[in-house]
Amino acid sequence: MKKNLVFIVMAAALILSGCSKKIECSVPAHFEDGKIVLETPEREPGQQSALQMACEPIDTVRIGFIGIGGRGNSAVWRYTHVPGTKIVAVADKYQEKIDNIINGLAEEGITGIDAYVGEDAWKELCERDDIDLVYICTPWLLHTPMAVYAMEHGKHAACEVPIATSIEECWQLVNTCEKTRKHCMMLENCCYDFFEITTLEMAQKGLFGEVLQVQGAYLHCLDGFWPGYTDNWRLSYNQTHRGDNYPTHGIGPVCQVLNIHRGDRFDYVVSMDTKSVRGAARAKMQMGVDEFADGDHTTSLIRTVNGKMVEIQHNVYCTRPYSRMHQIIGTEGSAQKYPVECLAISGKNIPNAAELGLEELDAEGFMDHEAFNKLMEAYKPEMIREIEDDARKVGGHGGMDYIMDYRLIYCLRNGLPLDEDVYDAAEWCCLTELSGLSIKNGSAPVAVPDFTRGDWNKIQGFSRATK
Ligand SMILES: NC(=O)c1ccc[n+]([C@@H]2O[C@H](COP(=O)([O-])OP(=O)(O)OC[C@H]3O[C@@H](n4cnc5c(N)ncnc54)[C@H](O)[C@@H]3O)[C@@H](O)[C@H]2O)c1
Repeated sequence: MKKNLVFIVMAAALILSGCSKKIECSVPAHFEDGKIVLETPEREPGQQSALQMACEPIDTVRIGFIGIGGRGNSAVWRYTHVPGTKIVAVADKYQEKIDNIINGLAEEGITGIDAYVGEDAWKELCERDDIDLVYICTPWLLHTPMAVYAMEHGKHAACEVPIATSIEECWQLVNTCEKTRKHCMMLENCCYDFFEITTLEMAQKGLFGEVLQVQGAYLHCLDGFWPGYTDNWRLSYNQTHRGDNYPTHGIGPVCQVLNIHRGDRFDYVVSMDTKSVRGAARAKMQMGVDEFADGDHTTSLIRTVNGKMVEIQHNVYCTRPYSRMHQIIGTEGSAQKYPVECLAISGKNIPNAAELGLEELDAEGFMDHEAFNKLMEAYKPEMIREIEDDARKVGGHGGMDYIMDYRLIYCLRNGLPLDEDVYDAAEWCCLTELSGLSIKNGSAPVAVPDFTRGDWNKIQGFSRATK
């Protein structure tokens, strides 16, 4: 009898410890009705929703840049063209990165920019009282600590993708933004690409009928890039993190189509990956290690509470053509960006079809180039028309980086809510940990936290503010 009791206790302890070990989440989580459910922290006193948050207009936005590597260097150069801005300071861990930008700018006659060098020198930049916006382009694990520190020191924070690498970090960003009332924007430039921005307009005007399914991805063989990341930060990260480590280029634009936290929200996610082959081989060659956590290909499926479906893929290892997929599938039509930009829309669903001479289109086949170009031109948002020439001239992934920067500064100068808020940042980045969590638990469904804490249905439809 006593023996049996000991056995039962030991078995129960084993099962319990097995369960808790298997979940492995950065915040408390448990199984409930077949799903992994994460705890939502209470909103603390003094904190309030940052939905549609607007701040005092800033006439000239004074900017400090942190991380002047590949991306940061090009950002500083773009900002020499963005109206209403002043580059005040730059910070990097390494002197050579600072010399590179300071000397390059000086050759163009741009001087008087302060520089901070060293691992923690960025803190001094954040502590200055003559900076409005801290613009962060550093390795992923530094993003949240830097954005939080900037907001805590009275600055708006704009940060490269992904701004957070765990659920815990997502909440830190949300809580700090809600507490400090400073903007926190993730710089998801793909939301500003011409195809994405124009097909979003089409979706909002009903050309695809009701959008039910969307797909996005980051499929980019990084063979030529791995050796270039400072201190090998990216491969090191992927070596220890399993899941979709870079979801935001794929998920950002399609979330805007689905009005996420503007009338709909993610319900749960299920993820699966392949074994690691090329990732592991690269890590062996470049780092001399035998272990590699990230599968070569990861796919996640998310269902929304309004019954829509999102598919997101990640693969930075296999040799294949670049793709962000960006497919929008509605009840009456569809759009795809990769491998070739195409639209399939019925003339019956185009309000101004007669005027455009497109009444005969049907949605079962992709339309020809002439019809495609006509429709893309007709549905180009006004905001793009105004800055398209400058965007193409200044560039940055064909102009989308400039449009993103321009919009950020436009909103700050006019005291408007930003296009992408802290909840977007959290929703898009949470997939990094949630996909890994699902995979590690046998592709179990994981409930996606509601970072708005109940406010996801207060605004109906995504929009960009104008004065
Ligand atoms: N949106 C896009 O299209 C796009 C494109 C490329 C990169 N990125 C993102 O930009 C970020 C940077 O990537 P990258 O390609 O420029 O990498 P990188 O290695 O070229 O640059 C990172 C920089 O951060 C600096 N840094 C590291 N630790 C620091 C510290 N403690 N203080 C200050 N500086 C520090 C490094 O010295 C380096 O100059 C990443 O988040 C990446 O995902 C986005």
